[in-house]
Amino acid sequence: MAFSRLALASAISRRGVLTGASATALLGAWGSRFTAAGEVREYRLRAAPGLAHLRGAEGAPTQVWAYDGTVPGPELRLKLGERLRVVFENGLPEEATTVHWHGLRIPNAMDGVPHMTQAAVRPGESFVYEFTPPDAGTFWYHPHERSVIQVGRGLFGPLIVEEPEPPRVDRDVTWVLNDWRLDPNGSIRSDFLSFNDRFNEGRLGDLSTVNGRIGGPFAVRAGERIRLRLINAAVARIFELAFEGHHPKIIALDGQPVAPHDPEDERVVIAPSQRVDLIVDMTGKPGETFKVRDKFYEGAQAQDLLSITYRDDPPLRTAPPGDPIAITDNALPEPDLAQAERLDVTFGGGGMANGVMWGEMAGGTDWSINGVALFEHSAEPLFTLRRGRSYVLRMNNKTGFHHPIHLHGHSFRVIARGGKPTEHQEWRDSVVMAPVERVDIAFVADNPGDWMFHCHILDHQAFGMMTMFRVA
Ligand code: C2O
Ligand code: CU
Repeated sequence: MAFSRLALASAISRRGVLTGASATALLGAWGSRFTAAGEVREYRLRAAPGLAHLRGAEGAPTQVWAYDGTVPGPELRLKLGERLRVVFENGLPEEATTVHWHGLRIPNAMDGVPHMTQAAVRPGESFVYEFTPPDAGTFWYHPHERSVIQVGRGLFGPLIVEEPEPPRVDRDVTWVLNDWRLDPNGSIRSDFLSFNDRFNEGRLGDLSTVNGRIGGPFAVRAGERIRLRLINAAVARIFELAFEGHHPKIIALDGQPVAPHDPEDERVVIAPSQRVDLIVDMTGKPGETFKVRDKFYEGAQAQDLLSITYRDDPPLRTAPPGDPIAITDNALPEPDLAQAERLDVTFGGGGMANGVMWGEMAGGTDWSINGVALFEHSAEPLFTLRRGRSYVLRMNNKTGFHHPIHLHGHSFRVIARGGKPTEHQEWRDSVVMAPVERVDIAFVADNPGDWMFHCHILDHQAFGMMTMFRVA
């Protein structure tokens, strides 16, 4: 049995799930969103060792850690306004773990950060996560304990919150992108956190997969309009996708709607933990095949990620439909830039890039945020933010590497790069800083609690590029 999925039309029982204290905080922050008798969508989710057929049925299977035995884990889906309840069980033999709901602005007690928001779930133990996502969009879940290893061995899955009125499409498809570093015999190489990976670009794999398969043909019908939800679950790889023969439009970033636009240079760039929602009109002809290629890294070859193959069926329609593709915005608190408090955040550390030794820490190349390298989920907050107040973070990347920086519990607007306003003022929960780039983000600190702020290249997170903000 893969997973049970029951929608219970029942009154919500919070007692027994949340402690008194967190129930109060939850009502305080989110009470207005509760419906008295909302639907609860319940899933069971189990992390355990499993086998993945990355190369299809013929290839040797790979031993992985998986949610419900599949890589990626099951797609958890609910409608905006519904409550999600996940009864999580840790079936890993020796690893404690948690589930973090990446990008969801939920109460702190449900954020899945070990030692901070909950005790790690030990082997054989369970934990019940329960919350009402405030935003529709494309999200995902993954462990927050020894993330580079647990995510790197296959623990990740998509979480989709459906809009009340989604754009009209023929198919809604999720592609979870990932890469793997395998031995010739197909097993995952155990060289996690090697010196070279952790102080450079992170653990890049040598085999990229979409939904746990390499190169598989993606069959389409001519004339179809597809919503493609991309999720980058890789530990370190930044993907840059080129859709041969097609012109996708970006309609959402990190789950949050954005004015529909063409990707820059017709390339869709998606860094670890980010999501991009696309509308793709299948404008090819029956029988045709097109490649989706990936190339981000300097000097690397473009790789075929998969091929779009057109079935022989007659076209569904002769021209793309005229329906609007924009999504209605979520109800995010708008930062007040005039009143916002401005904070400087400087990122340092790292190995050799472009002929420069970047490490700044005394005695090493550890990554750091404002001079501090944090290796555990226990810290004094870097900043204590006043609840309800607007903040601008002026993020300075003083390293020779890219970093996708993620803030828990909030979405922020990316307001400027290199001091210039961004074109789309997009909402994000993870933003990439290019080497030595400055990026300014703005948000309202409206979600009380302690929230991690870290690089989502998980080797970098493990080796110092992590801190915590307190919203009080
Ligand atoms: Cu996707 Cu701190 O995590
Ligand atoms: Cu980084």
